[in-house]
Amino acid sequence: MHSTVIMYQNRREALIMKNLKPESAEITIAYRARPQFLPFHARAERFACIVTHRRAGKTVACIQDLHRAALSCDRIRPRFAYMSPFLKQAKSIAWDYLRAAAAAGREAGASIHESELRVDYPSGAQVRLFGADNADALRGLYLDGIVLDEHADMDPRVWPEVIRPALADRGGWAVFIGTPKGRNSFFEMWRRAQSDAAWFALMLKASETKLIPEQELNVARRDLSEEQYAQEFECCFDAAVIGAYYGKLMNQQRSKTASAMCRTSRACRSGQHGISE
Ligand SMILES: Nc1ncnc2c1ncn2[C@@H]1O[C@H](COP(=O)(O)OP(=O)(O)O)[C@@H](O)[C@H]1O
Ligand SMILES: [Mg+2]
Repeated sequence: MHSTVIMYQNRREALIMKNLKPESAEITIAYRARPQFLPFHARAERFACIVTHRRAGKTVACIQDLHRAALSCDRIRPRFAYMSPFLKQAKSIAWDYLRAAAAAGREAGASIHESELRVDYPSGAQVRLFGADNADALRGLYLDGIVLDEHADMDPRVWPEVIRPALADRGGWAVFIGTPKGRNSFFEMWRRAQSDAAWFALMLKASETKLIPEQELNVARRDLSEEQYAQEFECCFDAAVIGAYYGKLMNQQRSKTASAMCRTSRACRSGQHGISE
């Protein structure tokens, strides 16, 4: 790490409140982390998995984490990346956040390269957005850290064949983030994060974070099915399975009713009810 210590606004405020002076060589990033994400920013583990409800702020937190990593890494030409299933998606989800972080860090010398979706730092560090639809752009590159957003929607070969090897020589870190979508590969990552000491795990449910107003959650509850709500806002990995199970039972019930109706109508047509045609 650099001799310069990078800290977030709320950490600096916490120190000032305790009458502790931040060290002179520190840079404060213009970012106030949501309290729910402070343990993530303070993690020491190499790998992390963050499961949150929609709009919790995981993309913002991860982009700021990459920005801080790029500012504070003292290796030669460090490389950091954010990847979404599609490059267009990465651009629409994360570029505004990264550009804003870099613009606020201009005094630290960050320069923005719009066409490459990349920010360069005076130390030689870079943060760049990628899409798993063009994962080959990463082949041959090394990585000091990467964030994978909605990893379950990526080609399953991207992590083991392209990204994991790129982390090997520099001991790079990786963060998997997303909202549950059944027991897929993201669920496997979450299970691993919970059982492996090398992993940091964080789950944020809307009922606990209070980041989304109660009134809005009530509206969402009305607009979504119970299973959809459990999945999108309560981080339930089994909601789709439960929905499919009950859906199957309902379908079975419907087909029983339909075949009964079908029998009745055949009976009607054949006059078995004693009604002549
Ligand atoms: N630390 C923060 N301070 C202020 N607003 C934030 C913060 N983190 C996230 N937000 C806002 O919350 C919304 C959702 O953030 P985002 O990171 O896109 O959520 P997620 O990726 O979890 O769906 C955005 O409007 C974003 O600007
Ligand atoms: Mg997001």
